[in-house]
Amino acid sequence: MTLAGLDRRFGTDVAVLAPAISHSDQVRAVFGGFPAAVVALCGTVGGAPYGMIATSLAVGVSFDPPMALFSVRNDSSTWPVLKRAGRIGVSVLSEGQAVACRQLAAKDADRFAGLDTHATLHGSLFLRDASSWMDCEIAGELPAGDHTVVTFRIHQVGHGPGTPLLYHDGRFPRMRHEHLS
Ligand SMILES: Cc1cc2nc3c(=O)[nH]c(=O)nc-3n(C[C@H](O)[C@H](O)[C@H](O)COP(=O)(O)O)c2cc1C
Repeated sequence: MTLAGLDRRFGTDVAVLAPAISHSDQVRAVFGGFPAAVVALCGTVGGAPYGMIATSLAVGVSFDPPMALFSVRNDSSTWPVLKRAGRIGVSVLSEGQAVACRQLAAKDADRFAGLDTHATLHGSLFLRDASSWMDCEIAGELPAGDHTVVTFRIHQVGHGPGTPLLYHDGRFPRMRHEHLS
C-alpha cells in the first residue's frame, strides 16, 4: 500500500489511531513508511561469502564504546551461518547500489554475483562503493517477538563519498539536503 492509500484508509488525524495488530495493514503501512537506510551485513565463513540486507540497523546505540544494533528475523536461514564469521562487515549502501540491495536480499540466487567486495582477515566482508562501512563484532542478542535484536561492538569504521540509499514505502527515494538556516 502506498502512503496515499494510508491517508485514505486510516485517516491522517492522530485521533483515529488503530490497534497495532500483528500483520495488519495498518502496522505494515507504518513500518513500511518509516524511512530507513539500507545496509548489507556480510562475512566469510569457511571461505564462502554470506550476506543479507537490513533496514533495521541503528547506529549511535552507544558512543563509548561505539555500538550499533539490528533486528533479524528468527526464521532467517542466512543469519545462523553469517553470525559464525568472526566479524560482520556492515556496508551502508549508496544510491547506486539498489541492484546490489535486491540481489543480496534474494532467496534463490548467487547473492554476490558481480559484486565488488573486500574481505578482511577477521572474517568481515564489505561492498566497495558503499557510503560507509563498519567492522562489527556481535556483542549480544536479545529476543524481540519474531525477531532477535543483535547488538554490535564497532571496531573499525570508514566513510566514502557516496550518498546513502534510503528505503521507504517499498521504494528507494532520493535524499534531498536542506540546511537548517
Ligand atoms: C529493503 C529490505 C530490508 C530488509 N531488512 C531486514 C531486516 O532488517 N532484518 C531481517 O532479518 N531481514 C531483512 N530483510 C530480508 C533479508 O535481507 C533477506 O531477504 C532475508 O534474510 C533472506 O532470507 P534468509 O535470511 O533466509 O536468507 C530485508 C530485505 C529488504 C529487501
